Amino acid sequence: MGGTPTDLKLIDERGLRIDGRRPDEMRPLRIEAGVLKRADGSAYVEWGQNKVMAAVYGPRECHPRHLQNPERALVQCNYNMASFSVEDRKRPGPDRRSHEISKIISEALTHVVFTEYFPRTSIDVYIEVLQANAGTRCAGLTAASVALADAGVPMKDLVAACAAGKVADTVVLDLGKEEDNSGQADIPLGYVPRTGEIVLLQMDGDLSPEEFDKGVRMAIDACRKVSEIQRDALKRRYSASSADVDAAQAVPEMPKEGP
Ligand code: CDP
Repeated sequence: MGGTPTDLKLIDERGLRIDGRRPDEMRPLRIEAGVLKRADGSAYVEWGQNKVMAAVYGPRECHPRHLQNPERALVQCNYNMASFSVEDRKRPGPDRRSHEISKIISEALTHVVFTEYFPRTSIDVYIEVLQANAGTRCAGLTAASVALADAGVPMKDLVAACAAGKVADTVVLDLGKEEDNSGQADIPLGYVPRTGEIVLLQMDGDLSPEEFDKGVRMAIDACRKVSEIQRDALKRRYSASSADVDAAQAVPEMPKEGP
């Protein structure tokens, strides 16, 4: 949030944004579930120019053991940005920002997972940002909840996420990179459609109470759409797998060789 520089017009005369979107328009979102063979569950998300992979392992024995909770599972998220994901090469390894994002995503997911079903275990969620263009925490959380569902982890609902914000004195949905750099505010939000709970909410920049309400409402409406796209990805994945099973069953078993 750097304040609007005079040479960059974030909203034009027609009220359209730098990439041609209307203020309440989200970037195109595509989700695919079950993309990694060796993870228990996985999902790939392309959201505008963001490309994010999520993988889930577990529930499995929690290490180190002193972190084990005898009453519930621990949801441990690890958010990482690849060095090549941003314009200026990112120094590899964890930093303050990735710790923060890992923590808020772990907390958001803990709200929906039935952790009490799996005492002493850990559910490990890895989020790898392959290409970043603002909004990666929302893309990461959206991908992670699809990956959890793909892993068969029981949950109240999927968490859907989307940000709203303010650019050129206008409340807008789903900020892109230029808007994030030069805009006035950014509010990433994680939402559980079934219960109406907000499980992630941050704010960077300044907004009046009215602008904040408008932004939150806009983000919640977008989360409902994100949730449908998440469900469609899971339906596609599972209808494809059952088609695979049907096809496999249709093939007669080959006679075994030798005595
Ligand atoms: O990605 P998100 O909007 O959730 O988090 P952010 O901290 O507001 O970062 C906004 C954007 O800045 C990222 O999506 C990246 O495109 C970019 N960024 C970067 O270029 N280099 C970094 N070390 C971190 C972020």
